[in-house]
Amino acid sequence: MSSTAEELYRPGLEGIIAGETSVSTVEQDDLAYRGYTIEDLSKHASFEEVAYLLLYDDLPTQSQLDGFVAQINAHRELPGPVVDTLRAIPQNVNGMDMLRTAVSMLGHFDPIAGEGHDQDVERAIHVLAAVPTMIATRLRLGAGQDPVSPKPGLSHAGQFLYQAFGSEPTALHEKVLDLTLTLYAEHEYNASAFAARVCTSTLSDFYSAIVSGIGTLKGPLHGGANEAAMEMISRFGSGPEAEAWAHHAIANKEKIMGFGHRVYKNGDHRARILEPYTRQLGEAKGEQFRVDVYDAIKDTMWNEKKIYPNVDYPCGLAYFFMDLPIDVYTPLFVASRVTGWAAHIIEQRSNNRLIRPRSRYVGPAIRPYKPVSER
Ligand code: SDX
Repeated sequence: MSSTAEELYRPGLEGIIAGETSVSTVEQDDLAYRGYTIEDLSKHASFEEVAYLLLYDDLPTQSQLDGFVAQINAHRELPGPVVDTLRAIPQNVNGMDMLRTAVSMLGHFDPIAGEGHDQDVERAIHVLAAVPTMIATRLRLGAGQDPVSPKPGLSHAGQFLYQAFGSEPTALHEKVLDLTLTLYAEHEYNASAFAARVCTSTLSDFYSAIVSGIGTLKGPLHGGANEAAMEMISRFGSGPEAEAWAHHAIANKEKIMGFGHRVYKNGDHRARILEPYTRQLGEAKGEQFRVDVYDAIKDTMWNEKKIYPNVDYPCGLAYFFMDLPIDVYTPLFVASRVTGWAAHIIEQRSNNRLIRPRSRYVGPAIRPYKPVSER
């Protein structure tokens, strides 16, 4: 290691401060977006207010919120070639791969001219509005149905459910989707926000940074866990069956998806906030046995490993009870997290320095080159 690099190495950058942010704080017992606690936001604010807060640094007045909602609504329809792309992507392609391509394609039809802070906020609104339409359009096409045009007057969450199912959602479904969008919106230097910041730090463009975030969120150690957790829950028909499996999986040192967190060791606030709604949805759906499976795995993880669920665990089951196919769970995480990514991209640009750490070299020592004929 050269003398210009301090030898400070922790695998996975655990516990390393990699930059400053005013977007959110994530501490053991404290999660807040721009100073507003997640408890307050999830109780009192709509996702639209939360999105505004992340993009404009403070909560909106009523007229600011009305203007923001109108702007989102103006960007909901996708450019024709993006819809053509959604038709062209084979149906068996993973939902996150579809979204990565579709957002990249959207970037080719960027309606916003020029570069700067205000343009980035506008681009964020453009992507925020388009992503739910992409997910819903893809769902409809997959079911052999025509895409549904947005219906004025619905909330952002209600709009997605309307475009996905072709009818207005129940109040409970709309509330729970709105809540999950709020809970998923932002989380400090998580892997996908960090990827978006690294991309931005090279002075690359807004869409490339968002696509970096999508590719990074896809993995099951990150956002992909909501799908993986639900796939796990759906394998069992009763609590005792799930408990027996969980004992076995823990004994075999398997990773149980939807549990654990790099920062939270006393539990994830977001999971605690969402869980009562997941139970309520299970009751409404008449599928208590799935809640029993959920509890059996959760209790076994606690009893044997003292590890808590993260937000992805109750979220997967909540979306399942709302009749959403598993393949859209991580894309819905994107539909929310684009706000956090955009806030980080804007913040990174405002005080940019190339993000380029060092590595500790563990390869062979310097050795003589041999021509091919002598190897
Ligand atoms: C998200 O960072 C963010 O903020 C992310 C996120 C956001 O909003 O952006 O909160 C969203 O990504 C939530 C996390 C979703 N991922 C999963 O649910 C996947 C399953 N969880 C893990 O693999 C794990 O807990 C991570 C990836 C979330 C965290 O990994 P770390 O910090 O590298 O921890 P680790 O894997 O080194 O685990 C430490 C110990 C190990 O035991 P020992 O070897 O020390 O005995 O805890 C155990 C692990 O085996 N452990 C688990 C476990 N999670 C941790 N054991 C079984 N199942 C698990 N899920």
